[in-house]
Amino acid sequence: VPLAETVEAMEQLVEAGLIARWGVSNLDTDDMGELFDAGGEACATNQILYNLTRRGPEFDLLPWLKRCSIPVMAYSPVEQGRLLDRRALIEIAERHTASPAQVALAWLLHRDGILPIPKAGTVEHVRDNRAAADLVLTPDDLNELDRRFLKPTRRRPLEML
Ligand SMILES: NC(=O)c1ccc[n+]([C@@H]2O[C@H](COP(=O)([O-])OP(=O)(O)OC[C@H]3O[C@@H](n4cnc5c(N)ncnc54)[C@H](OP(=O)(O)O)[C@@H]3O)[C@@H](O)[C@H]2O)c1
Repeated sequence: VPLAETVEAMEQLVEAGLIARWGVSNLDTDDMGELFDAGGEACATNQILYNLTRRGPEFDLLPWLKRCSIPVMAYSPVEQGRLLDRRALIEIAERHTASPAQVALAWLLHRDGILPIPKAGTVEHVRDNRAAADLVLTPDDLNELDRRFLKPTRRRPLEML
């Protein structure tokens, strides 16, 4: 289906009052350019794989979205649980009497325009994740995370799960 037709259909749903906004998922920088060329400037968000072990989007996609004031929904923010036994997260969590999941989520929440969407199947995990919004990481914590989970130095294709 041509993107322009999809955009038109989304806008019709907005006009009909059936949805408030619409967004996209797994679109890389060039795809976002195509979306805009197809009239999709009203896109409200791009939902992408983004967490401490998936920092590729920082190279060009996140700056592109920021320039266009489009917030990011970061899916699989704890890498489907695989991030939780990483030593750096455990050590920082211990310093704050927090959990590794909270540190991974707080790192995302500290970043402008990033909204992590963790999946939790228990009330305990929902409460744990909610408390991540109150965890304030220090500049030392953030520097340590940058050392242990490196920023991208070149463009990489967007990863997906
Ligand atoms: N757009 C896309 O292509 C795409 C692709 C993948 C996922 N998503 C969306 O992204 C969201 C989440 O992603 P995801 O489920 O792939 O990965 P995730 O949120 O990174 O990880 C979920 C896993 O982490 C565990 N967990 C969550 N909070 C925890 C905590 N505080 N302590 C310990 N373990 C915790 C969960 O266990 P329990 O279940 O036991 O709580 C579950 O096993 C979902 O809404 C999903 O639909 C979108």
